Amino acid sequence: MSNRALLLVACGAPLAARLGDGVQAAYERGWDPYVVPTDAALPWLAEQNLGGVPVIVGNRKPTEPRRTPAADAVAVVPTTFHTLNAWATGNAYSYPLTTLCAALGSRTPTVAVPYASQELTGHPAWPASLTVLRQAGIRILDAHDGSPTSLEPMVPGTGSQVVDGFRWDWVFEQIDVATRIRESG
Ligand SMILES: Cc1cc2nc3c(=O)[nH]c(=O)nc-3n(C[C@H](O)[C@H](O)[C@H](O)COP(=O)(O)O)c2cc1C
Repeated sequence: MSNRALLLVACGAPLAARLGDGVQAAYERGWDPYVVPTDAALPWLAEQNLGGVPVIVGNRKPTEPRRTPAADAVAVVPTTFHTLNAWATGNAYSYPLTTLCAALGSRTPTVAVPYASQELTGHPAWPASLTVLRQAGIRILDAHDGSPTSLEPMVPGTGSQVVDGFRWDWVFEQIDVATRIRESG
């Protein structure tokens, strides 16, 4: 049996510095990972060893074949303020956003780890977007402790502590939950 395909979408925030660990964790759990970074995430990826995993940047050419198999699951780590709001409103103007909108539309098991400061999360679009995504079945995890039911904003000055303390186990546990929900529904 072939491995399952996992799309790892990364946005432009400091937690993208842990993407290499996510790739390794995916392999250890029997997934075939594909990295789908936003343009803003690329500076964080440049510093990391991604072990030769496919990194899908930008749109494919019309004559080019698909670059990933159909996804069995998607993880968005980190999810920025910008991407979370765009995703919730159905905005698909970049390849990562098209990937996320298609995952939501096809009810592919998806886990998102928002990472945004207090100033941004005070904007009224934020709670509205979280509600839309949760109601569509997206598992939203707190980057501080992996909680799937609560979400604290980033407090200035605590970023490196949160990045270092983040555990990919939280993401894979919730992918399993989302997959079971999908299979039972
Ligand atoms: C050093 C740095 C840190 C940033 N940290 C965050 C962050 O923690 N959360 C966030 O939502 N945006 C953060 N941003 C801003 C996003 O990168 C920016 O809004 C970008 O347009 C997001 O694009 P994307 O959603 O396509 O990745 C940061 C930008 C820089 C340069």
